[in-house]
Amino acid sequence: MKIVITAGPTREKIDPVRYISNNSSGRMGYALATAALDLGHDVTLISGPVAIPVPEKANLIKVVSAAEMAQAVRDHAPDADIVIMCAAVADYRPAHPWDSKLKKMPGKLVLELERTEDILGTLGKNKRPGQMLIGFAAETDDLEANALGKLERKNLDWIAANLVSDGFGTDTNRITLYHRDGKKIPLPSGDKLSVARSMLHEVLP
Ligand code: C5P
Repeated sequence: MKIVITAGPTREKIDPVRYISNNSSGRMGYALATAALDLGHDVTLISGPVAIPVPEKANLIKVVSAAEMAQAVRDHAPDADIVIMCAAVADYRPAHPWDSKLKKMPGKLVLELERTEDILGTLGKNKRPGQMLIGFAAETDDLEANALGKLERKNLDWIAANLVSDGFGTDTNRITLYHRDGKKIPLPSGDKLSVARSMLHEVLP
């Protein structure tokens, strides 16, 4: 099968040397890519800026911003059998990034932010029959309610939910899978590669 996986954070430019980002390490998405390649699938890995080794044989597409990630997903998702959005995509970006380095000035600086595209939401709206869409929900609070809300709103087949404290920027993860038909599957916690293997075991047809 052709599997598209997104991973890592995005960076949203403030000026030529500054950006807004988050603590995503990319390790969960890279582990999913490794696990899928080990099963013999064709893997396109669309990755934000990370500092970890690239799984051999993955078709790696490097991106920086949410807009670049959205474009790469538009280019590769249409003929994918499965899309797994593991990336921690920024929800907001500076509305007017500066072309030159911002100087210190007296008083407060107000940064105006605008929404980025909800990549997975757009995919959900245009889902091809037979295509499987899988999202991630990393939450600090109300994990199950937030995950189920995203599953529904984004028209997903599965959502993989984890507490930020259990998996964000760490080596290990604890995930619960929720299917659109109501099934709930808590996966054994462990290192991200073993969690990725259990996850694919549950979701692959
Ligand atoms: O940010 P949020 O918690 O809504 O993320 C849930 C899912 O949506 C994740 O799979 C994430 O990769 C995806 N997402 C996206 N585009 C965004 C924000 C999130 O595809 N702009």
